[in-house]
Amino acid sequence: MTTPVTITFADIDLDQIALATGRVAVFLPADGKLDLAARRVNRLTKGALARMVESGAVEKMKSGQVSTLNWPAGMAAKALDVVCLERNAKPDDARKAGAALGKAKGTDALTVLAGQVRRPADLAQGIALRAYEFTAHKTAEDKPGEGVSIMVSKPDETRTDAAPLLAVAEGVFFTRDLVAEPANHLTTTEFAARIDAMKSLGLKVTVLEEDKLEKLGMGCLLSVGLGSASPSKVAIMEWNGGTKGDAPLALIGKGVVFDTGGISLKPAAGMEDMTMDMGGAGVVAGVMRALALRKAKANVVGIVGLVENMPSERATRPGDVVTSMKGDTVEVINTDAEGRLVLSDIMWYAQETYKPAAMIDLATLTGAIIIGLGHEKAGVFSNNDDFCKSFLKAADTMGEGAWRMPLGQAYDDQLKSNIADMKNVGGKPAGSITAAQFLQRFVQDGTPWIHLDIAGVASVKTETAYAPKGATGWGVMALNQLVAQAYEPN
Ligand code: BES
Ligand code: MN
Ligand code: ZN
Repeated sequence: MTTPVTITFADIDLDQIALATGRVAVFLPADGKLDLAARRVNRLTKGALARMVESGAVEKMKSGQVSTLNWPAGMAAKALDVVCLERNAKPDDARKAGAALGKAKGTDALTVLAGQVRRPADLAQGIALRAYEFTAHKTAEDKPGEGVSIMVSKPDETRTDAAPLLAVAEGVFFTRDLVAEPANHLTTTEFAARIDAMKSLGLKVTVLEEDKLEKLGMGCLLSVGLGSASPSKVAIMEWNGGTKGDAPLALIGKGVVFDTGGISLKPAAGMEDMTMDMGGAGVVAGVMRALALRKAKANVVGIVGLVENMPSERATRPGDVVTSMKGDTVEVINTDAEGRLVLSDIMWYAQETYKPAAMIDLATLTGAIIIGLGHEKAGVFSNNDDFCKSFLKAADTMGEGAWRMPLGQAYDDQLKSNIADMKNVGGKPAGSITAAQFLQRFVQDGTPWIHLDIAGVASVKTETAYAPKGATGWGVMALNQLVAQAYEPN
């Protein structure tokens, strides 16, 4: 996987500032007051920072914005990154400032003078998150970038604070790599292998193969993969860091490694984007990795359905009727509405097997959610106000956009079928909501449940605060935060 940049924490050493190679970053609050390190930089550069402040340029900068002086006089560094950040910055501000530095860094070495930064651990997480590039298939660019040294007033304390945050960044990287990986490389088998390799982190991993899925009666999930040469699989990751016997939180992910639409074939233009249709499963795997790396004190089970939706003589046809593990029958009107078929069976399996305290599913489920919310926010659907609120709070804390959408009987009525218990599409109106209604039919009474439609946010065409364009890893931070906030003792 793409290895996150190496970050070390050191004592403040003013004499090192002139000697550091690569880039040096220094912080200025909007009032322009220079801290000890900034004063040294100012002296070395013969007053460059003071001139910047006097010009009014610093006042105009937004929190987290970087202004770069190239080839600064009096310093060995090739660039001096001046970052606007208040001394009492909130975690999200510190993280965003870090992200701006992570972007400016490229592959250069970076020395960060963070003596006055109140949240250096969050700053470090921001640097780590943004310093990402998917180069696995660029033959000339496989050398890792140089490291980051952050000078702080209490390096030992900061190192301890930063460890769990950097574990989360590693989880995010794991997700991004999976989402970015093309489907000829990330087959269902390869995906399961990458999950299986996480056994070394202390996760319990089980992979259910097709014969087992048939015995379990997962006719909906299996119907999606029939047209593919890659076998359908369900991978289960268990992290039992909490009290023994406590019901786990269940995370469920759609892992369609490629979605051609099946016999209801998608148009050619843009079809290559469907390599990210395993985004939900990618997030679940990334969260489980983060929880294991930081040894979370909670019980969480992650279950992903790994399938490929291809057309062939064996593929499911429009009009076919399939039977779910729950026992309900589904008329497959459109083979391109496959994600809900995958999720329905693994959601049912999760509840039957683990009796979870709560369940969250993630899926790149509908194009309609992109029409509704664009690429800024994921669609959030829930049967439980309190549970939903705590997720929205966690997402907000981590700066990941999320917006609650409605559910209701009238939407569910759109799924009525003439010949089966339901059909798999509800027509054009409210396409994301009818997809969620379909899923809700597989939620048992008393299970608090959230469905996250991440079709718009899993992979984007322009950069975000924490990621370059492409796979974002949206949701790993929010779900990790939810676990920390609601499932771990504080
Ligand atoms: N994987 C797609 C949804 C999607 C679209 C994800 C764009 C990311 C970007 C999903 O399987 C799908 O094809 N949904 C259909 C449902 C329709 C047939 C009811 C859609 O949204 O068009
Ligand atoms: Mn589809
Ligand atoms: Zn799909």
